[in-house]
Amino acid sequence: MAERVLVVDDDESLQELCATAFRLDGYQVEVASSGEGGLKKLDSSPFDLVVTDLFMPGKIDGSGVVRAVKARFPTTEVIVMTAVPTLKTAITTLKDGASDYVIKPFETDHLRVIARRALDSRRLRRELDTERAMRQELATAYKELQKVEELKESFLARISHELRTPLSEVLTAVELMENAAGTTTDPEKLARYIGLSKAGAVKMERTMNDLLAFVELQSRPTIEKGSPVALDEVCRMAAEKLKPMIDQRGLKVDFKFPDALEKVSGDPDLIARAFENLIHNAITFNKDKGVITIAGRVEAGSVYVDVSDTGEGIPEGEFERIFDSFYQIASYLTRKVGGLGLGLAITRRIVEAHGGHIDVTSKVGQGTTFRVRLPVKTPAPKA
Ligand SMILES: Nc1ncnc2c1ncn2[C@@H]1O[C@H](COP(=O)(O)OP(=O)(O)O)[C@@H](O)[C@H]1O
Ligand SMILES: [Mg+2]
Repeated sequence: MAERVLVVDDDESLQELCATAFRLDGYQVEVASSGEGGLKKLDSSPFDLVVTDLFMPGKIDGSGVVRAVKARFPTTEVIVMTAVPTLKTAITTLKDGASDYVIKPFETDHLRVIARRALDSRRLRRELDTERAMRQELATAYKELQKVEELKESFLARISHELRTPLSEVLTAVELMENAAGTTTDPEKLARYIGLSKAGAVKMERTMNDLLAFVELQSRPTIEKGSPVALDEVCRMAAEKLKPMIDQRGLKVDFKFPDALEKVSGDPDLIARAFENLIHNAITFNKDKGVITIAGRVEAGSVYVDVSDTGEGIPEGEFERIFDSFYQIASYLTRKVGGLGLGLAITRRIVEAHGGHIDVTSKVGQGTTFRVRLPVKTPAPKA
């Protein structure tokens, strides 16, 4: 696109002379006969170069034009034209940002050279700016990429750790069984080995299920059709499933549900998984011989279930972040218990996909309560 030049001069013959010369050079030229007229033109569209007379009648003289242009369009070049008596003023305009000046009378060739020089240096500056911006963008993108790469690596490290640990438990137990096969008939010993290998396999299954559920839930924002689900039964079954862990920690589980709890509507497997995750955490982060309380009630068309523990608690600043995928309060590498940090992210997704809500309250050192709200199943509309 042709470069745009604005010539401001009250002397119309000089104005015309400059304009003609610039047009010959292929610029797109506009003219104005006063400082005010020049600024008005600038308002309507941007220029690459403004060539202005210094001494002009009217409110705004050439110095005023220079200051106004530089204040509003810092990248626009300005050249001032002046006769010898005001040369000093012309030089002062350089401080205000004019890039050059010509002394009247001048050859138009001279003005053309100066204009070309100003426009070339402007173009160079812009190219440099663009390049700098591009380099900045590239650096930012590279950093992002590095972050993603790091995340991927730590994610893979976690997954392989989460699978390898129980796998080696299984292998050890199987090896023990193998060795014992020919030598022992002690049923208790064998049962213990079988129990160990099963526990390892169950842990691996949990991890795999979490990963699969996480991926699957990403593409399933809402549960359209559901069947009636009794949350008290769901919680009792989940606790039953986790009984070996509960017993191992010497925990006590208290159920507090009304006799006939209204049902919610949803995907029974997903809802079971949501509560299993909460109870699993209430076991993992509880203190030995602690208590887990699971309490339900109905209020204003919703079923509320609280899963509380008497464990280490969660600092208030972490209440939001614990629901993020892969987020764990204690560093994964140093903490004692395993887990991928997906449980709560999955649970929240499941609850929200059913039109419900989950939040947490906790006191460090005392315990934590996760509260799930799910809408009571509304009777299906009659066709
Ligand atoms: N009941 C709880 N008590 C204390 N901290 C908890 C509890 N539940 C979850 N957290 C914290 O939130 C984090 C995320 O939990 P979760 O998403 O289930 O992942 P994971 O159990 O695999 O670490 C846990 O690592 C833990 O730091
Ligand atoms: Mg968990």
